Amino acid sequence: MPQNVRGVVARSKGAPVTIETIVIPDPGPGEAVVKVQACGVCHTDLHYREGGINDEFPFLLGHEAAGVVEAIGEGVTNVSPGDFVILNWRAVCGNCRSCLRGRPWYCFSTFNATQKMTLTDGTVLSPALGIGAFAEKTLVAAGQCTKVDPAVPATTAGLLGCGVMAGIGAAINTGNVGRGDSVAVFGCGGVGDAAIAGARLAGAHTIVAVDIDDRKLAWAKEFGATHTCNSSKTDPVEYIKSVTGGNGADVCIEAIGNPAVYRQAFDARDLAGTVVLVGVPRPDMMLELPFIEVFGRGGQLKSSWYGDCLPSRDFPMLVALHQQGRLPLEKFVSETIALDAVEEAFHKMERGEVLRSVVVL
Ligand SMILES: NC(=O)c1ccc[n+]([C@@H]2O[C@H](COP(=O)([O-])OP(=O)(O)OC[C@H]3O[C@@H](n4cnc5c(N)ncnc54)[C@H](O)[C@@H]3O)[C@@H](O)[C@H]2O)c1
Ligand SMILES: [Zn+2]
Ligand SMILES: [Zn+2]
Repeated sequence: MPQNVRGVVARSKGAPVTIETIVIPDPGPGEAVVKVQACGVCHTDLHYREGGINDEFPFLLGHEAAGVVEAIGEGVTNVSPGDFVILNWRAVCGNCRSCLRGRPWYCFSTFNATQKMTLTDGTVLSPALGIGAFAEKTLVAAGQCTKVDPAVPATTAGLLGCGVMAGIGAAINTGNVGRGDSVAVFGCGGVGDAAIAGARLAGAHTIVAVDIDDRKLAWAKEFGATHTCNSSKTDPVEYIKSVTGGNGADVCIEAIGNPAVYRQAFDARDLAGTVVLVGVPRPDMMLELPFIEVFGRGGQLKSSWYGDCLPSRDFPMLVALHQQGRLPLEKFVSETIALDAVEEAFHKMERGEVLRSVVVL
């Protein structure tokens, strides 16, 4: 029997989100229905509601979540009802050209649920990143459920489902940060601070946090920033050079999606260094770079989709590091909120008051 639950929907570009009744089908072959326990508010949800990702309104928002599997469809073997899981948006297919070349973290054909969740009038919803977890329950592909230790609260575990994983992975997987490296992170929201935490885990020696908000810079220190730069007052390129022997950082991570900041990251990088773009640009943005410098500085300009993570490999490992006291996931949770407070949480995010508001269900 399909179930009716409450969920947060973005009906049209820029319009405030509303709580709607969502119809959740029973899980079909390869699918699972998950009872959502917690879901973080990621900037990407706001990008969706602003029409910055695509025009497939209405969206069922929310994609950074943990919960308990309620029911599974035919043929599902990776999870059972009652399992505590983090939802992921990289259920790798194993068969696309990237998976077949041994690079499943780039999988070009990830699984989502085949059936659609709808409004009560039958309108088909587009779940954000194929998840849609600002809802009491959601329907996903079973591969989108990654089992982890249920001892970790859902409020913290769920953050690994998107922003925190994206940030840590941008540093560790995409940027390949290693012991003794210097790293600069531009934009210290949930994603940027996770990149800082990842750089610290990987043994970076100098970690410069760059933001335009002093409050964010203070938080960045708690995750491991050794230096901070308010780029609305101090030139970040000069500053980063000044604390890296005049050279620039080995790895510069842009966690905003702003071409002017990308240029700062490009200029603040040492010769043969790496720039990682993990912030998501708007479709209308253009980037201009001095071409001779692209060549002359060598190194790598990379983008990081979901921190190049493999959920089955990385979620349990990061949960374990958290339990050992080496990854303070709980510090990302600025507040817990109810489902009907997502719109207000967007405004708090815009005002820079939170790292993560987490909806608790
Ligand atoms: N690549 C991925 O897989 C992935 C995954 C999750 C999120 N994201 C993206 O990462 C970005 C950050 O997400 P978030 O949730 O951390 O957002 P956020 O809004 O919490 O953080 C953004 C930070 O950037 C700072 N900032 C804004 N403009 C700045 C400027 N000009 N110079 C310096 N700092 C500036 C803000 O003060 C804020 O601290 C978003 O674009 C989001 O869509 C990407
Ligand atoms: Zn694949
Ligand atoms: Zn996200």
